[in-house]
Amino acid sequence: RDVRVCADAVAAEALAAGLVADQVARRPHSVLGLATGRTMIGVYEALIERAHAEGLSFAEVESFNLDEYCGLGPEDAASFARYMERHLFSRLDFDKARCHLPDGLAADGAPRYEALIRRAGGIDLQLLGIGRNGHIGFNEPGSARGSRTRVVELSEETREANRPDFPAGHEVPGTAITMGVATILEARRIVLVATGAAKAEALAGALEGEVGEHNPASFLQGHRHVTIVCDREAAAGLG
Ligand code: F6R
Repeated sequence: RDVRVCADAVAAEALAAGLVADQVARRPHSVLGLATGRTMIGVYEALIERAHAEGLSFAEVESFNLDEYCGLGPEDAASFARYMERHLFSRLDFDKARCHLPDGLAADGAPRYEALIRRAGGIDLQLLGIGRNGHIGFNEPGSARGSRTRVVELSEETREANRPDFPAGHEVPGTAITMGVATILEARRIVLVATGAAKAEALAGALEGEVGEHNPASFLQGHRHVTIVCDREAAAGLG
């Protein structure tokens, strides 16, 4: 197994960004699977720095985000579409026509999203974070190995964790549209980034625990090319 334990979160973010940059340098028309969340903010910062330093272009990249809240569109400040625009797309030369997110305003958009990924030739490199309960994308515990892009209910724990992203008085949506576990596992390479002590238990369960729906990230044990990038705190539970 390929686990890279870094001294701290900043080093882990830089390492993960380097893996993405190398992929795009090798293959400028790569298909990237992208994630949101606090962990990825640092990864995208590092990627932008690196792209500027190396003169790396993302103009030919096609990208697919993991998930979006139901009921939120690109105009909503708390939507993942806005997050991507703010933290990544607007800051590099991405071709916005090639950057896809599930449509939070179209509950029936899941099959279309799967078809778009297939038409792009599948995902070369999928970036993942991990939830404290082991979720990947918004595949909460109980998500099947064979699940595909669909509307899911968010757990109270996940809504609580993401509450700071919402302005006062705005409720965290109860549902989201997410790539499924099977969709994620079809990526040719997966890079999962975990930082901080709050992720230690979920990460240990994912890598060394029993494989099953109780910890959706554990399904990654069955994938041929996964790289785990973490800091010492997140690695604390690993044997
Ligand atoms: C985000 C996503 C989630 C996050 C996870 C960790 O698109 O799919 O699975 O990666 O919730 O979030 P942070 O990094 O905020 O701890």
